[in-house]
Amino acid sequence: MAMVLAVFLLLLLLCLHVRADQNQQSNLIKLGSSLSPRTDPSSWASPSGHFAFGFYPQGNGFAVGIWIVGLPKNTTVWTANRDDPPVSSNATLNFTRDGVLVLRTEDGRERPIADLEDTADSASMLDTGNFVLYNNSDVIWESFDHPTNTLLGGQNLTQRDSLISAVSSSNHSSGIFLLRMQSDGNLVAYVNNSGLPETDAESAYWASGTSGSDFSLLNLNKRGLLRLFDYHSNANILANSSYAGSKRITIYRATIDPDGIFRMYLHHFFDSCTNSCEKVVWQNLEDRCEVKGYCGLNSYCSGRGNDTDCYCYPGFTVISDNKTSLGCSQNFTEDDCIGRKYQVKQYNITTLENMQWADNPYSVIQMKKDDCKKSCQEDCYCGAVLYSSGNCNRYKLPLRYGRRSKNMSTLAFIKLIHGGFTNYRTPMVPSSPTVINEENPHLLLSVAISLGSITCLCFALAISGFLIYKHRIHSYRKHSENKITPGLTEQFTIRSFSFIELREATDNFKEELGRGSFGAVYKGTLPVTGGTKIVAIKKLENVEDGEREFQKEMTAIGRTNHRNLVRLLGYCVEGSKKLLVYEYLSNGSLADFLFHNKVRPIWKERVRIALDVAKGILYLHEECVVRIIHCNIRPQNILLDDSLTAKISDFGLAKLLMANQTSVTGIKITGGHLAPEWQRNAPISVKVDVYSFGIVLLEIICCRSSIELKVCTADEILLSSWAYNCFHSGELNKLVEDEEVDLKMLERMVKVGLWCIQDDPTLRPSMKNVILMLEGTMDVPIPPYPLHYSLDV
Ligand SMILES: *[C@@H]1O[C@H](CO)[C@@H](O)[C@H](O)[C@H]1NC(C)=O
Ligand SMILES: *[C@@H]1O[C@H](CO)[C@@H](O)[C@H](O)[C@H]1NC(C)=O
Ligand SMILES: *[C@@H]1O[C@H](CO)[C@@H](O)[C@H](O)[C@H]1NC(C)=O
Ligand SMILES: *[C@@H]1O[C@H](CO)[C@@H](O)[C@H](O)[C@H]1NC(C)=O
Ligand SMILES: *[C@@H]1O[C@H](CO)[C@@H](O)[C@H](O)[C@H]1NC(C)=O
Ligand SMILES: *[C@@H]1O[C@H](CO)[C@@H](O)[C@H](O)[C@H]1NC(C)=O
Ligand SMILES: *[C@@H]1O[C@H](CO)[C@@H](O)[C@H](O)[C@H]1NC(C)=O
Ligand SMILES: *[C@@H]1O[C@H](CO)[C@@H](O)[C@H](O)[C@H]1NC(C)=O
Ligand SMILES: *[C@@H]1O[C@H](CO)[C@@H](O)[C@H](O)[C@H]1NC(C)=O
Ligand SMILES: *[C@@H]1O[C@H](CO)[C@@H](O)[C@H](O)[C@H]1NC(C)=O
Ligand SMILES: *[C@@H]1O[C@H](CO)[C@@H](O)[C@H](O)[C@H]1NC(C)=O
Ligand SMILES: *[C@@H]1O[C@H](CO)[C@@H](O)[C@H](O)[C@H]1NC(C)=O
Repeated sequence: MAMVLAVFLLLLLLCLHVRADQNQQSNLIKLGSSLSPRTDPSSWASPSGHFAFGFYPQGNGFAVGIWIVGLPKNTTVWTANRDDPPVSSNATLNFTRDGVLVLRTEDGRERPIADLEDTADSASMLDTGNFVLYNNSDVIWESFDHPTNTLLGGQNLTQRDSLISAVSSSNHSSGIFLLRMQSDGNLVAYVNNSGLPETDAESAYWASGTSGSDFSLLNLNKRGLLRLFDYHSNANILANSSYAGSKRITIYRATIDPDGIFRMYLHHFFDSCTNSCEKVVWQNLEDRCEVKGYCGLNSYCSGRGNDTDCYCYPGFTVISDNKTSLGCSQNFTEDDCIGRKYQVKQYNITTLENMQWADNPYSVIQMKKDDCKKSCQEDCYCGAVLYSSGNCNRYKLPLRYGRRSKNMSTLAFIKLIHGGFTNYRTPMVPSSPTVINEENPHLLLSVAISLGSITCLCFALAISGFLIYKHRIHSYRKHSENKITPGLTEQFTIRSFSFIELREATDNFKEELGRGSFGAVYKGTLPVTGGTKIVAIKKLENVEDGEREFQKEMTAIGRTNHRNLVRLLGYCVEGSKKLLVYEYLSNGSLADFLFHNKVRPIWKERVRIALDVAKGILYLHEECVVRIIHCNIRPQNILLDDSLTAKISDFGLAKLLMANQTSVTGIKITGGHLAPEWQRNAPISVKVDVYSFGIVLLEIICCRSSIELKVCTADEILLSSWAYNCFHSGELNKLVEDEEVDLKMLERMVKVGLWCIQDDPTLRPSMKNVILMLEGTMDVPIPPYPLHYSLDV
C-alpha cells in the first residue's frame, strides 16, 4: 500500500513538474506582472527552470537578482543595485503598465531595476541566465550588459565594465576585488582596499599577460571556453573546460570570488547530484596569499591554497576581532614621528623570517644586515625593512600585501613602538617571531655604516622625500611576464646601482647607443634572477647643472607607468656621477625608423605608432599622478621596442605641473618641434606638447623631417606649410608619394596635425581629443592656416 502511495506521489510530482515546465515554455513576462518576497510568485523562472529572476534572501531582508536554481543552495549570479540595502518582505517588484521595471519598498520609495531609455512591452528570463526587456521584440535592456561579479556562458566583459567581487558568499554588495579588461589588451585583477586609486598598477595581482595586444573583451561561451577576443575575432584561450559529462545540462560561470580569485565553475543537474552539482574547473590563482589585499593593511598572509590566514605584525592589533582581513593597526602614527624630527625614539625591533611584501619599498640599498636594521630605526618614515640577498628594502606604514612562507629566505625587521605590544596573534606557520630587544641611542647616522653606504643613504633619504608618497614603477605588465615570486619586489622597484656595477655592465661604457639631451646612452647587461637583462644606461653630463633635471626626471619617471613610456629601472649617484638605467628598446628611435630606413615603413604601422605616441602624451598630461609636460617631444625621443610599440623617453625637460606654476625657465630652444610660445616667453602649457606632437605626426605621415633641405621646391622645405598647402589644394597624395594608404585616415591625420600646430595654443586640441579624432570617434573640422608659418616663411 505504502509502495503504491509512493508511486502515486511520484507520478503526481512528475506531472506537476511537467506542467510547470509547459507553463514556463511561454514565459514572456507581461506588463502589469509583479513579484513579492512573501507571496507567490517571488521569482520568474527561465523555461528550463535552471535560472530565476526575483527576490532572494539577503541579510535580514531581500534583494532582487538572478540565481542558478540548485541543490542544496542557489547561486546568485547577478544583483540589481547591489549596493542598496536589502528590502523588507513587504516590498514589491512591478513591471508596470507604463513599461518600467521598478522595485517599490515598504516605505513607498521606488527604484528602477533597469535604466531604460524607451519603455518595455515585455520581459523574459532566458535559459542562458540573461534577463531581458523588449520593446517590439527588440532587446532594449539585458542583465548581460551589466555584469556584477559573474560571467555566464554567452556573456562578455567589455572595457566599459568590471567584474567586482561580492563582499562574502552571503552578501552580494560590492567587495574589494575587481577584474578589468584594459584598453592595452590585458585582463587584470586589482584590489581596491589599500587607499591607492582602484586601478593603480601597484594594486594589480594578476594579469592575463596579453598587454600590447588588441584584445578588447572577455567571453565565456556555453561550452566553458573562457577567451579574450579582439576586433578581428582573434582569440586567446584563458581556460578550456574539457568536462566529460557535458552531454548533460551544464551551466558554466566565471566569477571573481570574495577571496579575489577568478574561478570558472561548472553546474550540472544530475538527478542524484547533491554536493557535486557545482565544481571549480579553472582558477587564475591557486593560492589565496597571492591575492594582494586578501589580508588587510598591516597584516600578512600565511598558509597555502584555501588554507590561509591573516596575522597582525607584532605590535599591531586587529581592527575588528572577527575579520583579520580588515587589517591591523598600531597607535603610533607617522605624525608623531615627523613632529620629533631630530629626536630618535626608542624602538624595539622584532624579526620575522620568511617574509615578503609585494608592495614597493621606497628605498632599496645594498648593505649589511645590521646596518639595514639600523637604517630603519633611524629613518622616521621606515615602518619595516626586508633584508633579502644583500638588499635592504625599506617600507613605510601601512604595510601592504605581506606574505610569509617557508620557501623565502628573507629577514624582516619590524619597528615596534614602546608599549605597543599587545594582543597580536602568533601564527602557527611556519615559526613564531623572535623578538629582539634593542636600545637605540640618539644618533642619526650610525658609525657602523661604511662610508660608501653613507653616501647612498643620504641620497636615499633625499629621494625618499620624493618617492615617499606614491612610488609606482610597479607594472601589471610585469606580472604577466614573471609570475609573482619571491624577490620580485627588486625587479619592480627603482634600484640604486653603484658606479662600478654600471661600468661593468656597460663594459666600461663601450657601446654608445645614442645621445640624448643630457648625455650619452650606453648599452649594458645586468644580471637578474635566472639570466641577464639588456638595459640602456644614460650617463648624465654637466652634472652640476644637471642635478635639478636629474631629480626631476627621477621623480617624474618614478611615478609613471604606461605602455607608451620608457621604463626607468634604476639609477646611480656617486659624487658627481649620475646615471640612469632604462629598459632597453631594440628598435632604436622613431627618427631612425622614419628618416633613415632604406624602405619606407608601412603605413599601417605608422598609424599605430602615431596613436601610441598620442596615448603616451595623454598619459603624461592627464592620467598619471602628477601632470607632466614633456616639453621635448621629437622623433629622437621616441623609441620602438621589438614589436614596434612606440615609447616616449627622455623626461629630462619634463616640468611637473604645479598648481601655480605654468611656465618653465631656462630651456634652450633647439629645433622645429618647439611651440612658438617658447620664443615669445609666453606661459607654457600642455599645449606645447600638442604642438610638438603635431609636427611629429606630420613627420610620421610623410616619413620626412620637419625641416628638409634636399627637396625639389622651396615650398617643401618646411613640412608644416607644405602639408597645409597640399591639404588646401587637395593634393594629399603628394605627402605620401606612391604609397597605398587609407585616404580617409590620411586626411584625418593631416587635419589633426594641422590643428595641433596652430600658432594660438588655445586653438590646439587636447591630447584626449587628438586621440578621439585620430580614431575617428570625433569629427575633425577644417583646420585654418597655421599662422606662425605665414609670417616666418
Ligand atoms: C554587506 O556588506 C556591505 C559592505 O561591507 C555592508 O555595508 C552591508 O551592511 C552588508 N549587508 C548585509 C546584509 O550584511
Ligand atoms: C532556490 O530558488 C528556488 C526558486 O527559484 C526556491 O524555490 C528555493 O527555495 C531556493 N532555494 C534556496 C535554498 O533558497
Ligand atoms: C509588512 O506590512 C505589514 C502590514 O502593514 C506589517 O504588519 C508588517 O510588520 C510588515 N512587515 C515588515 C517586515 O515590515
Ligand atoms: C505592484 O504590484 C502589487 C502586487 O501585485 C500591487 O498591489 C501594486 O498595486 C503594484 N504597484 C504599482 C505601482 O503598480
Ligand atoms: C517602444 O519604444 C518607442 C520609442 O523608441 C516608444 O515610443 C514606444 O512607446 C515603445 N513601445 C512600447 C510598447 O512601449
Ligand atoms: C560577445 O562577443 C562576441 C564576440 O565579439 C559576440 O559575437 C557576441 O555577440 C557577444 N555577446 C553578447 C551577449 O553581447
Ligand atoms: C573602490 O573603493 C572605493 C571606496 O571603497 C569605492 O568608492 C570605489 O567605487 C571602488 N571602486 C571600484 C571600481 O569598485
Ligand atoms: C577544448 O578542449 C577540448 C577537449 O580537450 C578540445 O577538443 C577542444 O578543441 C578545445 N577547444 C579549443 C578551442 O581549444
Ligand atoms: C577554495 O575556496 C573557493 C571559494 O570559497 C572554493 O570555490 C574552492 O572550491 C576552494 N578550493 C578548495 C581546494 O577547497
Ligand atoms: C564578532 O562576533 C561575535 C560573535 O560571533 C559578535 O558578538 C561580535 O559582535 C562580533 N564583533 C564584531 C566587531 O563584529
Ligand atoms: C597606545 O595604546 C596603548 C594601549 O592601548 C596605550 O597605553 C598608549 O597610551 C597608546 N599610545 C598612544 C600614543 O596613543
Ligand atoms: C623594549 O625594550 C625595552 C628595553 O629592553 C624593554 O624594557 C621593553 O619591555 C621592550 N618592549 C617590548 C614591547 O618588547
